[in-house]
Amino acid sequence: MKVSNNSLLLATATALCALPSAFAAFENITASDFTLKASGYSDVIADLDAVLPVKTVKEVLADTNHKNPTSSPEVKHALAGYTWENKEGYDDVNTDKWYPQGITTSTDADDSGAYDGDVVHLVSWHSDKYDSGKRGARISFVNMNDGADRAYRNVLLVRPTQGGSTPNFEAVSDLHAGGIVWYGNLLYVVSTKEGLLVFDMSHIYEVSTGDGIGRVGENYQAYGYKYVLPQARTYAWQAKDGVSDMRFSFVGLDKTSSPESLVVGEWLPAGNGRVVHWNLDESSRLLEADSNSIATASRAVEHTITNIQGSLTINDKYFLTQSGGSLWTFSWAGGQEEHKDIFSDVPEDLSYQAGYGLWSLMEVPGNRHVVALDVDQF
Ligand SMILES: *[C@@H]1O[C@H](CO)[C@@H](O)[C@H](O)[C@H]1NC(C)=O
Repeated sequence: MKVSNNSLLLATATALCALPSAFAAFENITASDFTLKASGYSDVIADLDAVLPVKTVKEVLADTNHKNPTSSPEVKHALAGYTWENKEGYDDVNTDKWYPQGITTSTDADDSGAYDGDVVHLVSWHSDKYDSGKRGARISFVNMNDGADRAYRNVLLVRPTQGGSTPNFEAVSDLHAGGIVWYGNLLYVVSTKEGLLVFDMSHIYEVSTGDGIGRVGENYQAYGYKYVLPQARTYAWQAKDGVSDMRFSFVGLDKTSSPESLVVGEWLPAGNGRVVHWNLDESSRLLEADSNSIATASRAVEHTITNIQGSLTINDKYFLTQSGGSLWTFSWAGGQEEHKDIFSDVPEDLSYQAGYGLWSLMEVPGNRHVVALDVDQF
């Protein structure tokens, strides 16, 4: 009797010892291994200001040209949803030229929930499968104001090239733009191998109609888009021996951390993925950096979940979307949990908007919706 009790105890003890590693599948790793080098502010922007009309977010919102119909996608615990324009001659729902990826809202941009008085969503799209990715990425500006018809305008992301009296810009070719965060007047966009690109929302330019890019004769064009948003800064990934290069696959804003922080995660088809936090300076709206312009991560974790498409932390709880349609959560106290079949197709980036929910979006042609999840269900 005694012997079998002991072996039962031993078996139980062994099981309990095995439990923590399976339970806490997330592990803290050395945050100081993850650093970015900040560039200065692009001096070409002042030259572009001199030759192009500068437009505000409000002016772009007043000039939306596509509708976002309300939709009820097959998504569990959804509070709201909308989709893109699909009409004769124009189709963002089924196009395979552009794929929606990143999402952020005016709540990320400003604590009031509105930017210059407007409630707005921004959604990034890549063109990796169109013209070999040379058209780069675009941002949908979605008018979410109460009482307004929900509608959007697509704005092309551009990179200033040369300054002077005939300044120029180009498309940000091959930019996957898998995640975005709007913070003050800055839009942070992930560039998979490069790091973070920062665009200045207070220097949106209106250009002429035409399928060229940059300066064309006396005018400027942007592949048919009416507005462009210029890149102003770069935070470049700094490689380190013994640390595999971080993939900048998606990014979210944690407004519950102190200070507020960017949450960058990586998509990997196999192996351990990482989620890394960089603190933000709430007044300059830039990343906290030292006198050498190095921004060092404040937190980093490694996990074993593959094919992650978006990540965010809220009150120290991790939320991760996964290609197969799951939403994973993790907390140090509660461990890791898979919420299966939340999405009926590949979900992407995440952004939390108080009063609306936890926004994500699905990218697959034909089943493209932006949805707010009820965060209390997870
Ligand atoms: C990991 O770090 C976080 C702080 O970022 C801390 O709250 C948590 O307890 C740490 N987990 C472990 C297992 O040490």
